[in-house]
Amino acid sequence: MPQLAGQVVIITGASSGIGEATARRLARAGARVVLSARRQDRLDALARELDPAGAAVLAVAGDVTSEADRRRLVDATLAKFGRIDGLVNNAGYGTRGPVEIVPVDAIRRNFETNVFSLVALTQLVLPTMRAQGGGCVVNIGSVAGRIARPLSSVYDSTKHALEALTDGLRGELRPFGVRVTLIRPGYIVTEFVQAADAASDGILANAGPYEPFLAGFRVGYQKLRRVAGVPDDIACCVERALVSDNPAPRYNAPFHAKIFLLLKWLLPDRLFAHIVRLRK
Ligand SMILES: NC(=O)c1ccc[n+]([C@@H]2O[C@H](COP(=O)([O-])OP(=O)(O)OC[C@H]3O[C@@H](n4cnc5c(N)ncnc54)[C@H](OP(=O)(O)O)[C@@H]3O)[C@@H](O)[C@H]2O)c1
Repeated sequence: MPQLAGQVVIITGASSGIGEATARRLARAGARVVLSARRQDRLDALARELDPAGAAVLAVAGDVTSEADRRRLVDATLAKFGRIDGLVNNAGYGTRGPVEIVPVDAIRRNFETNVFSLVALTQLVLPTMRAQGGGCVVNIGSVAGRIARPLSSVYDSTKHALEALTDGLRGELRPFGVRVTLIRPGYIVTEFVQAADAASDGILANAGPYEPFLAGFRVGYQKLRRVAGVPDDIACCVERALVSDNPAPRYNAPFHAKIFLLLKWLLPDRLFAHIVRLRK
């Protein structure tokens, strides 16, 4: 079973929420962590807190959608630590709005961050993992990768894409000793909602005939807060995957995520939509 102590793990989206909690958990367990996100001040503060001496934590600020920044992240990791044992593809955000009115450019941007950049960074890391004879790629998907909701289908479809990508990659990389897993968080209290508001407010301000339905969507989110998890619920799954010889193909957390996914699996589509009020 791989030990976490000493592993070199790149975490994207480490400036807040699930990525930050993952960095804390892995650093506590003795991993050498490489933090990446756009907000350099946050990364630097976290790096100083986790490792004041700077020996085991590296912060490399950058935009995951920039090819140059992705390259810099991988080069800096190899220059400092000489290897890459884990890649946690966590950076992501959501775009809300009815498909009819979300500009295609906004949809492209969401796919660029959540899907294409994840693929491109993974492509950069894999030659190193194969050469080492192993490694672990952890993709942060979502319950929304199985359950698409009205007014959220842009984001939800990015997470659906990760389901297929992760499954295909897992089989391709098995012969090289590289393990691949998908984590499906349910609702976790992070800055996700604020980031989604920032990405979507302009779109929702002109929702026209869809206006009356927006309030219902917000109420749905507020109701979910009662069962929401904390970022460490997901960090815990990342740790389990990184220390396993044979990680589960998927980890679902917290508890409400397991229930939603079980119902989705068990029930016919229309009954499921009726029960969870997806109004399909
Ligand atoms: N919270 C939930 O309920 C939930 C549920 C299911 C799945 N997820 C997934 O979990 C992941 C983490 O989200 P979170 O909940 O922790 O939200 P969050 O607090 O908003 O964190 C998102 C992270 O992604 C980074 N990021 C966004 N765009 C980026 C870009 N272009 N380049 C580099 N970094 C970027 C942000 O950093 P900067 O802004 O500093 O760049 C931030 O560190 C996402 O993939 C999300 O889809 C979340």
